[in-house]
Amino acid sequence: MSSNPLAPAWLAVPDDANDLPAAVWSLNASRTASGELGIAGVSASAIVAEFGTPVYVVDEADARSRARRIRESFDREFARVGSSAKVYYAGKAFLSTEVARWVTEEGLNIDTASGGELAVALAAGVDPSRLGLHGNNKSLPEIDRAVSAGVGAIVIDSVVEIERVAAAASRHGRTQPVRLRINSGVHASTHEYLATAREDQKFGIPLADAAAVVALIRAEPSLRFLGLHSHIGSQIFESDGFAEAAHRLFALHAELLEGGPVPELNLGGGFGIAYTTADEPLDIDELARRFADIVADGAAQLGIPVPIIAIEPGRSVIGPSTTTLYTVGTIKDVLVSQSAPEALEGAASSDSATAVRKYVSVDGGMSDNIRPALYAANYSVRIANRASTADPALVRIAGKHCESGDIVVHADYLPGDVQPGDILGVPATGAYGWAMASNYNYLARPPVVAVIDGAARVIVRGETEEDLLSRDAGLNR
Ligand SMILES: Cc1ncc(COP(=O)(O)O)c(C=O)c1O
Repeated sequence: MSSNPLAPAWLAVPDDANDLPAAVWSLNASRTASGELGIAGVSASAIVAEFGTPVYVVDEADARSRARRIRESFDREFARVGSSAKVYYAGKAFLSTEVARWVTEEGLNIDTASGGELAVALAAGVDPSRLGLHGNNKSLPEIDRAVSAGVGAIVIDSVVEIERVAAAASRHGRTQPVRLRINSGVHASTHEYLATAREDQKFGIPLADAAAVVALIRAEPSLRFLGLHSHIGSQIFESDGFAEAAHRLFALHAELLEGGPVPELNLGGGFGIAYTTADEPLDIDELARRFADIVADGAAQLGIPVPIIAIEPGRSVIGPSTTTLYTVGTIKDVLVSQSAPEALEGAASSDSATAVRKYVSVDGGMSDNIRPALYAANYSVRIANRASTADPALVRIAGKHCESGDIVVHADYLPGDVQPGDILGVPATGAYGWAMASNYNYLARPPVVAVIDGAARVIVRGETEEDLLSRDAGLNR
């Protein structure tokens, strides 16, 4: 079958529009004997019968095994270069008490980015010494809570925070370990990175000012300086950006060693995952090997000990574990002409006068996954309740919100007989899906259901209309 001229250049017509490419789908996703999608031994139809749609389905064993693999790879590679690694799970990607337990049981620490995330991790019973707190504008109560709970690290993001954290630590009679977030001037995304003298952004301290700021930290008796921190971006497929950031931080790290201990270096998160078959993230073993080489080479060049490395992956731990299931409502074949050039933007070919784009609308959308609207992120899709032999048709999966940008999947091929009532599965929605969900158009946030060994259980309850109305203070006036 020839491709639809509206299809983006990266999207090939699949030989089989029922296949579940292993790079994109969670480890335990497969077609059942009847042809429907099954995840960890639970069929899509069974999940939908019990929990409805939309629903986020987390393959627990997948999330655990990714967490474990990242930790094992970094442990092994940093042991090889005579050091060790601390892996923090970036809870902003998706945090619930269950997920906090999974990742800590697999040996990870947890990085939180607000008092709310900290509360979830503490409620899960995570040892506070395994928690970190981030944020460019931490409130005084957030700082106080983190210090009094005994979190293992607070990432200082501005000069004013030094005094705020130091005061909280004195008040609680503690010595608070802190890192300093550096704005390294390196910004990376997928295959490219941009390196400037200074990055125009709200996070961190410019590299040039950092030594003076560390001196201020060291002057506070209630603070203990752990080291520098840098996070250069998201959905990164190459290690060059990390190498550039490490290179920039290393000179400073070495200089700081002259004034006292600097046991750690935190290179942040941002490791990319496959949302579509066009995405080719680095294998985690390879990434860990490159990180270890980058850090060991940098240390050797400056004649300093290899620091303990800390990393903060979120997406690469939880993203691939989750599939969102939706129900198809309305389908429209939209004739797209060249008089609408924006529709052909990025398309493989622009020589057709008209072509058909099948708009398949589902019962969720930007309220359960804002990433396509926010970042033009691509996803893929399959029919989940059945397999079909119909020829593939180019589809755009749209949500039900009052926004034309409310798209779930910009482009993929589905069997052309996709019909109202079908269940669709969108893989790799575990990171920044539920975490960024909203109630736009008064849609209730969907439940999060974990599946493992043939059993499904709710790990975050879905909202109801009553939940939404219960916050409306005008009701009882
Ligand atoms: C400071 C910091 N660390 C870690 C992460 C996690 O990034 P990712 O989920 O892409 O691994 C982020 C994401 O925004 C971040 O800002």
